[in-house]
Amino acid sequence: MIVSPSVLSCDFGILESETKMLQDSKADWIHIDVMDGNFVPNISFGFPVLKAINKHTNKIFDVHLMISNPDMYINEFVDFGADILTVHYEACPHLHRTIQHIKSKGIKAGVALNPHTPINVLDDIISDLDLVLIMSVNPGFGGQKFIESSVQKVSKLKKLIESKNADVIIEIDGGVNLETGKKLAEAGATALVAGSFVFKSDSPSQTIEKLKQL
Ligand code: DX5
Ligand code: ZN
Repeated sequence: MIVSPSVLSCDFGILESETKMLQDSKADWIHIDVMDGNFVPNISFGFPVLKAINKHTNKIFDVHLMISNPDMYINEFVDFGADILTVHYEACPHLHRTIQHIKSKGIKAGVALNPHTPINVLDDIISDLDLVLIMSVNPGFGGQKFIESSVQKVSKLKKLIESKNADVIIEIDGGVNLETGKKLAEAGATALVAGSFVFKSDSPSQTIEKLKQL
């Protein structure tokens, strides 16, 4: 299982030590939630924070853009170290163009789906994607309750990927813990994002290790 801890739940007052903890942990990726106060009703952080995190780690940057008009910022996110750039289906009227733009920069391209967006909207683009991010909470905040129907969505997505013989990572974001993570793994998830479950635990690095074993 690929584990991608979300820094949204870390203590930004000690960002350096939080990043070093992730660097020394078994985390595969670092999940970076960018919110613009427009696409989602919250504002998180932007380029200066990415730069600060990048100084203390060489882990893969898994950047989740919860912003309107992501096309405007693709080049900058690449310059600031994004290895995977995930945009929201709901924010991209020209999704195919956006995905090609991301891939032309030599990084992985992902599409995130809000809880109300069905898997079949990806029918004609799945083979172009490196990753699909299923939101198992409404995007905007950490620490929300897992939406159970997300497990079924994972199975549906897995079927779609197999039917097209595609090679796509299935990542889930929101309310992931050992219990929900186990169900997701059984359904076919290959990457798990976890924010509060990691950072609110007594030992974040041990929690990351447990998630990896799912
Ligand atoms: C929510 C973000 C998530 C968030 C997950 O909009 O996309 O990545 O950090 O937090 P938890 O794991 O606490 O639900
Ligand atoms: Zn996220």
